[in-house]
Amino acid sequence: MICLGIETSCDETALAVIEDGRVAGSVLASQTNLHALFGGVVPELASREHCRYIGPLFDELMRRCCLRPADITYVAVARGPGLLGSLLVGVAFAKALALGLDCKFIGVNHLHAHLLVNGLAHKLSFPALGLLVSGGHTHLYHIHSPQFFTQLGRTLDDAAGEAFDKVGKLLGFPYPSGHLIDALGREGVADPTLFPRPYLDNDNLDFSFSGLKTAVAAHLGSRRLPDKTDDDLKKCCASFNLAVVDTLCVKVERALDRRPSLRVLLLAGGVASNFLLRERMTALMGKRGGKTLVPPPDLCTDNAVMIAYAGWLLYSNRYYHSLDMETIPRGRVIPDDMLSISSK
Ligand code: KG4
Ligand code: ZN
Repeated sequence: MICLGIETSCDETALAVIEDGRVAGSVLASQTNLHALFGGVVPELASREHCRYIGPLFDELMRRCCLRPADITYVAVARGPGLLGSLLVGVAFAKALALGLDCKFIGVNHLHAHLLVNGLAHKLSFPALGLLVSGGHTHLYHIHSPQFFTQLGRTLDDAAGEAFDKVGKLLGFPYPSGHLIDALGREGVADPTLFPRPYLDNDNLDFSFSGLKTAVAAHLGSRRLPDKTDDDLKKCCASFNLAVVDTLCVKVERALDRRPSLRVLLLAGGVASNFLLRERMTALMGKRGGKTLVPPPDLCTDNAVMIAYAGWLLYSNRYYHSLDMETIPRGRVIPDDMLSISSK
């Protein structure tokens, strides 16, 4: 079974093929350098770039995998959440392919795919707790199965990755800056009292990181930006990193206390590459007799392998969408509207 996956939800145009549960090939064109000029993703530019790249990337992927389009059995595409103009490029391309090739089609939830891609590196088991920490999202899920997720909490303002990027901007780092803060922080000694652990004085599982960025801004004040060898800068990075990780750990522990049947944590998203976060989540689950699964770093950020793999899991469970499936931008709930082959 050959499943094509297409990802265009933000600023990466990516396509991948999963053949019988294994990666057969993947291609990706990143727009990071283009958007870095503007300090963040410009939606109109992003969709235009997707239009330019998607056709040639598809041809290149077929060539690399030694496949003809007619060999594709199933087309999976990120249907949301994301930038509407960008998503529509991928969804229109996927629907046209499925129609032309007369094969089944499915729209994949981009956030679920981030978590499910853990299955490529580890054996998945359900139920599981899912923590997605990316540039655009911070979500906690109870994952019942590949197709059924219950959202337990989410960020009310900035996502964890966004907090890293905004603090990076305050420190004069290029966008995205999470990996730089992570690397510099590892060279420094964290002061646990320097920054607050935000939005813990409640009994919910939501997050709020915007105040943390304000705390870093207040700490820096009107100080001249230090250079990267400066111990104060390393301490600032280490302390901010620790504040984010402590906060995520508290809410994960709270979720586990409330749902003790969950013994596996699936971690995903760009921030899941963070060294301290991986270490602390692994220790936290280990102490409870469970385990933490994290994808390899190249599958933490946006990619099409995760879409193709989630599509493959859903196809294995006989799910698909009709070609009138709606594309869902950020801010709207993705409907539970998959069709089942067995129910026909
Ligand atoms: O998953 P992703 O591509 O974002 C979305 O899909 O929205 O992840 C990108 C985010 C950026 O905010 C980046 O700064 C952050 O992940 N990031 C990190 C690290 N590597 C990437 N944050 C903290 N530590 C890292 N090592
Ligand atoms: Zn993403």
